[in-house]
Amino acid sequence: MAEKPLKTFGKTHYVAELSPSLAGRSVTLTGWAYHKREHGNIIFIILRDPTGTIQVAGHAQTAKTAFDAMQQTTPESSIRVTGEVVVDKRAPSGIEVRASSFEVVNLADSEWPLDKEAGEAFLYDKRHLYLRSPSQTAIMQIKAAASRAAHEHLDGEGFTEIFPPIMVSASVEGGATLFPLKYFEGTAYLSQSAQLYEEAAICGLEKVYLLSPSFRAEKHRTRKHLTEFWHLEAELVFATHDDIMGVEERLVHAMCQYIQDKCQRQLDLLKVKVKVPQLPFKRITYDEALEIAAQRGFKIAWGEDLGTEVERAVSLHFKEPFFVTGYPTAVRSFYHHPDPKRPEITLSSDLIAPDGYGELTSGGQRIHKLEQLLARIKEQNLDASSYDWYLELRKFGIPPHAGFGMGLERFLAWVLKLKHIREACLFPRTPSRIQP
Ligand code: 4AD
Ligand code: MG
Repeated sequence: MAEKPLKTFGKTHYVAELSPSLAGRSVTLTGWAYHKREHGNIIFIILRDPTGTIQVAGHAQTAKTAFDAMQQTTPESSIRVTGEVVVDKRAPSGIEVRASSFEVVNLADSEWPLDKEAGEAFLYDKRHLYLRSPSQTAIMQIKAAASRAAHEHLDGEGFTEIFPPIMVSASVEGGATLFPLKYFEGTAYLSQSAQLYEEAAICGLEKVYLLSPSFRAEKHRTRKHLTEFWHLEAELVFATHDDIMGVEERLVHAMCQYIQDKCQRQLDLLKVKVKVPQLPFKRITYDEALEIAAQRGFKIAWGEDLGTEVERAVSLHFKEPFFVTGYPTAVRSFYHHPDPKRPEITLSSDLIAPDGYGELTSGGQRIHKLEQLLARIKEQNLDASSYDWYLELRKFGIPPHAGFGMGLERFLAWVLKLKHIREACLFPRTPSRIQP
């Protein structure tokens, strides 16, 4: 929490700011009635705010008006309470607030729909309510921390944040996963990746990054695919494939370290430990990945993409994130630079998370020579005229350069050991869900 968080509505403290050292002090809290228990002349309400929960006690004999208001309170009503901080071993956190005044700010309907039996699908139908639960609040706070960590780290390495368009005219990662959009008389698309715009920006700015939504019309129903995700992408010029792997591993390391340092309360609540991976990350080749896959019973022909299942099998072989380098040219997008020593493979890599979580990033060096890029565009049966401006960068002195993209939700799913990537989204978008 910020050193001096804004407080409104008469609030004096957040729950996380309460401690035994405040015993005897009067405080005012605002929040929601999370649970309620009645024992004759005493009522306990657990107040929830973004920073935690605290027991509020109301006594009929000493504070009748507060007690009556507490009695009327329904779960998830918004409340404001003023009272004395008391150290009491019986309270869940060792301290409680004894209400001297209690106000129901907005009374909730008596039937809160999310009971303990609610199934996953129902929880996401009610995502607007489910988001209030402490676990979901913690995940959103950690997502914000991950974003802050990425900004601080990349700013520190001298990258400039850019703000590319979301409505675009051409594909980056293949036409099959584009979402079309009626754009006046023509068609535009939702961006799959800002990479092509980054490549333009680096010729002025040298090192750029962005965190922006990307869209994929992928009908995959896996625990790691979304149709809309937050894409952290970076690109740098006068750079090779090795340079970009260095950027990626330092970034992932810094993000894990930041979450471990700043989000202990949230991690405890979620009962997860963050293991900060050691630098440098291991690098294996695509060929070696095929061997590991074969040991685990997956026989795939050289040249095929790994695919979710195989990638999962290979990732079970490792305890920390690792790079797979040298993917075959035929399965990579048109912009990937072929390895001059072995043109059937690319100067590219995926960073793979261990324990079955799979791909976190894709990155690599880009083709910077015009003729070579034109040939690749032709080989992949793409329409060169859609890439006019992108090709023109090659006419005007773009040097070797490299970049990568990472789905922020993929990163969180791995770090927080989430069962499904949708848990890392405020309002997930999947093939079967565009609401709420
Ligand atoms: O591997 P991808 O498709 O690579 C690119 O888009 C490059 N143009 C990025 C670049 O070099 N600037 O996507 C990059 C990352 C993936 O590794 C994954 O983390 C995430 O974006 N991603 C998805 N996350 C959730 N759901 C999906 N459907 C995703 N598709 C990609
Ligand atoms: Mg990829």
